Amino acid sequence: AFTLRGRSYLRELDLTPKEFRFLLDLAADLKAAKYAGTERPLLTGKNIALIFEKTSTRTRCSFEVAAHDQGAHVTYLDPSGSQIGHKESMKDSARVLGRLFDAIEYRGSRQAYAEELARYSGVPVWNGLTDDWHPTQMLADMLTMREHSDKPLDEITFAYLGDARNNMGHSYVAAGAQCGMNVRIVAPRELWPDDDLVVRPARAVADRTGADLVITEDVAAGVRGADFVLTDVWVSMGEPAEVWNDRIRLLRPYQVNADVLRATGNPDVKFMHCLPAFHDRHTVVGEDVYQKTGLEALEVTDDVFESDASIVFDEAENRMHTIKAVMVATLA
Ligand code: CP
Ligand code: NVA
Repeated sequence: AFTLRGRSYLRELDLTPKEFRFLLDLAADLKAAKYAGTERPLLTGKNIALIFEKTSTRTRCSFEVAAHDQGAHVTYLDPSGSQIGHKESMKDSARVLGRLFDAIEYRGSRQAYAEELARYSGVPVWNGLTDDWHPTQMLADMLTMREHSDKPLDEITFAYLGDARNNMGHSYVAAGAQCGMNVRIVAPRELWPDDDLVVRPARAVADRTGADLVITEDVAAGVRGADFVLTDVWVSMGEPAEVWNDRIRLLRPYQVNADVLRATGNPDVKFMHCLPAFHDRHTVVGEDVYQKTGLEALEVTDDVFESDASIVFDEAENRMHTIKAVMVATLA
């Protein structure tokens, strides 16, 4: 037997495929226990810091609810509520927080900050999203695919359309490789995942797990036979306003709509999105984009988002169960 006790979770590639699978199984167990009313708190008396230098709904709430279910206490530091990086270096902040807390969640821009935090705090650090990776999201997505398929994970094909040079694109390549899946990255060449950061290391993992990684500009070829079609926002948190026009121009052919789902040839295909999603005008940003471009939806159309194929809220719920698994595995 092995243990993840005391470990950080900063990138998928830091885990072995077996460890990744272990977290999925633990999440499924914790989810079943919560539903059955038999969950036992394993983190009583633990203090956890939640650092959010970017905003969040799902990730923050998942950490808070999971901690509460497990008997731990959380301290939330919002994007303006700490000295980190402004008045105090990450290295100093890490050494302070490590004296007070048993573990730390970190969401921010720089992956190097998450690594520094782990190194100098001496306690487990969980990456709640950086510009490079979104590793807790991957556990939720793989659990959701497993729940919605008759196939084992390593026989599932998923196609990710859109910005593949962001945290979600990178993480899908890494997690798909870990799980031995058929990964289809469908994106314009300008937005293909970074070679050094992820494609090369993921191919090395894929050689061992039997994963099949295809990166293509061709939507029809890319989605054919997919069990799951996924996408993400076209402009991520922290990106400058200037990228909007270029992104919309590059990514319009990669919008997930009814034609794309049909092109899979799979009547049971499912749609997933980490959320928040841009599928209508009912947000401040949505209305602004509509006024400027006349577009009512970007990465996914409203009919797909609201269709029976869409399992985005199961996916969102699974953020909590999987984050709980990470906390329990590394801290209990
Ligand atoms: N999917 C996700 O990470 O959502 P939040 O930004 O709301 O946490
Ligand atoms: N790529 C998105 C993911 C949000 C969960 C972002 O970084 O804003």
